[in-house]
Amino acid sequence: MVKSRIQNVYENVREALERVTDDAGFEALELMHAVCGLTRQDLLMGRDISLSDGQQKKLDELVRRRLDHEPLQYLLGEWDFFGRTFSVGEGVLIPRGDTEPLVEACLELIKRKHAPRILDLCTGSGCIGITLALERPDAEVWAVEKSPQAFSYFQKNNQSFGSPIRGILGDALNPALISGNFDLIVSNPPYLTRSEMDALQPEVTREPAMALYGQDDGLYFYKEFCKIYPQRLNPGGALAFEIGDGQQSAVCGFLTESGMISICQKHDLHGIIRVITARNKLSGQETPAET
Ligand SMILES: C[S@@+](CC[C@H](N)C(=O)[O-])C[C@H]1O[C@@H](n2cnc3c(N)ncnc32)[C@H](O)[C@@H]1O
Repeated sequence: MVKSRIQNVYENVREALERVTDDAGFEALELMHAVCGLTRQDLLMGRDISLSDGQQKKLDELVRRRLDHEPLQYLLGEWDFFGRTFSVGEGVLIPRGDTEPLVEACLELIKRKHAPRILDLCTGSGCIGITLALERPDAEVWAVEKSPQAFSYFQKNNQSFGSPIRGILGDALNPALISGNFDLIVSNPPYLTRSEMDALQPEVTREPAMALYGQDDGLYFYKEFCKIYPQRLNPGGALAFEIGDGQQSAVCGFLTESGMISICQKHDLHGIIRVITARNKLSGQETPAET
């Protein structure tokens, strides 16, 4: 069968991208969709869509940057999380599917609480806090981020979703930034170890080290958060963390030391324990353990 011109362009892009990704077909289509609106259907039907000179130039530039290991998500300028599309780019962590179980766990933790007050520490693009605010419109959500570049993406996303989150540009380790107590404090903090930082894929090295590195053992933020934030929970309130592969026993230890109870673990789609949640005591009484 004779290929249409656009199919030939697609094949060339796909072949080029095979040098940097195992998912070259998907990535080629994503880039071409961004440039000229090409869909899988168009390709399958052999529709003859022609690229203008400007579009061809743009596509060449995107392929060149991708071959230079720029993440696909930065080139597209957006990525999906929990069914919504967030703006992303240089300076902010790309939202990961691995973080969705944390959001699910949070929604479960607050399901019986009317108008919960929520704090998202290390918010980055805002994907966790904004999703919680949109899923629970009765909630009052606060978000803290230290990197000005990441914070600008948070602001952009917050504005475009019309979600009324209150954002604070500052250090999540400074609890004086925000007043009052919360029903849920959630965080996906930087948690990679020194040796994991030394072995990153080239694409991940393009994401900010500040979003990834959790000091030598990767545990710095959990240790500090467990000293600071249990005191900032309402009775029966919960902490929820995303953790790295194998960090569960250390993080459960910090939570236990800080007096938290009902500690639960949740797996991601790859079977790795990715979420740890815990509650504080209900006015001196223990809450029933959850599974
Ligand atoms: C692993 S990323 C998570 C981003 C987002 N919550 C997500 O799940 O995609 C960690 C974020 O913490 C921010 N960060 C690092 N140190 C911080 C600190 N001391 N205070 C506040 N934010 C910090 C980084 O800039 C980065 O945006």
